Amino acid sequence: MPRRRDGHSFILMANRLPVDRCGDSWHTAPGGLVSALAPIAKAESGAWIGWPGTCEETIEPFGVGGMHLVPIPLSCAEHRQYYEGFSNAVLWPLYHDLIVAPEYRRDWWFAYEAVNARFARAAIETAAYGATIWIHDYHLQLVPRMIRGQRPDVRIGFFNHIPFPPVELLAQLPWREAVMDGLLGADVIGLQRESDVTNFRAASQRFLGIDPDRVSNVIGAYPISVDVDAIREAAESESVARLARQFRHDLGNPEVLMLGIDRLDYTKGIPQRLHAVEELLDEGALDPETTVLAQVAVPSREGIGAYQDLRDEVERLIGRVNGRFGTIERGVVQYAHQSYSFEATIALYLAADVLLVTSLRDGMNLVAKEFVTARQGSGGALVLSEFAGAADELDRAIIVNPHDTSGLKNGIRQAASLTGDDAPEQMAAMAAAVKDNDLHQWARRFLNDLQSPMNSGLPLLKMPTRKTTGNLREVKHVGR
Ligand code: F6P
Repeated sequence: MPRRRDGHSFILMANRLPVDRCGDSWHTAPGGLVSALAPIAKAESGAWIGWPGTCEETIEPFGVGGMHLVPIPLSCAEHRQYYEGFSNAVLWPLYHDLIVAPEYRRDWWFAYEAVNARFARAAIETAAYGATIWIHDYHLQLVPRMIRGQRPDVRIGFFNHIPFPPVELLAQLPWREAVMDGLLGADVIGLQRESDVTNFRAASQRFLGIDPDRVSNVIGAYPISVDVDAIREAAESESVARLARQFRHDLGNPEVLMLGIDRLDYTKGIPQRLHAVEELLDEGALDPETTVLAQVAVPSREGIGAYQDLRDEVERLIGRVNGRFGTIERGVVQYAHQSYSFEATIALYLAADVLLVTSLRDGMNLVAKEFVTARQGSGGALVLSEFAGAADELDRAIIVNPHDTSGLKNGIRQAASLTGDDAPEQMAAMAAAVKDNDLHQWARRFLNDLQSPMNSGLPLLKMPTRKTTGNLREVKHVGR
């Protein structure tokens, strides 16, 4: 292989490029991952490979904020089949405990393979000799092996932001061997929780026949975190403090302000939360005259039926609660179906007394970590689902099982009684836990492990005899 002197020595890959388009110009999109990785990418002659967010458009590589961006085009059909279909209507529900049923469509799988191959080709062409390539998330699980086959000189890391499913659930996936083999092309695979690592080891053994000890040097738990300094700086600014006071005032200065901030996703347990709040209002355990739940639901994946159904359900439930317990002038649940800026989000954390995180399954839940960081031990309460990865580190929260309505109600009732400056000790302990492993440390730890000669992936695996991918190619044009 020719030694490439040109090319980039550090490459990030994710489904999306970290940019927003504004007319003809591009701006770095706000977000924790970008703020952690962009400085490394800039310092290391880095490139970011990802989808620019539009369909049927070919955009030449360009630079933004010191980073070289390589846009991967998607046709509208690929957006439907690879992104909405295989990534978000097969892998997403399968990796989140089958909250909705995946549709194992072969045409979606073919699109997933084709788009993964396109990403891999871009990396192969962009990487300098010996480059480090860090691939993010479930959209690109075949890419490590695809790169490895062509570029044995590079170091490949893969980090999955979402849970890794138990082997009994992954078993449903008709292409499970190909996915496991794709991932194991990486030198280091990072997952969020130890339980994800356990699941991965079991899946390697069951689907590829690999002794779990052999994957020990390849796989590890790297719980992702938040940019503590950026959150604290914003939380200490006068403009954010003013906005927080304004929010509280505009919400009617309630005695108890509870907050939910979630992407509008069925994994987040928003209906469960609303049912619990409704029962507490019904029983008089929460007073509708002095309690407000502010629910921000960030629009997400709106082309997918399950997300449209969820929106209908959430809005129907909110309407019912407000109809039953609110008045014309005052709703008990204040709802916004929109995203809020970073500063406004921090202001909401400061304004609230209680944050409700009731995920049915969640890789980490950074909202929980942001909340305790923004409040810096100034009191309040965090109700946190045991099914969110954050529960491993934030064990001083009020931990709940969102499927257990009585338990969830107890947790919310307890949190609502801890208003104002109560319980600062727990909040301070949780803020310290987040600071001990913030986003920058997380990135450094992963990249250090990726550079370590101890972690060098597995030798090329012999694929099991059942070659799912090959067989399916033959029926490619036969059915869905
Ligand atoms: O955390 C999972 C994830 O898919 C991220 O990769 C992504 O940034 C986020 O959810 C939002 O999802 P989407 O890119 O589908 O809008």
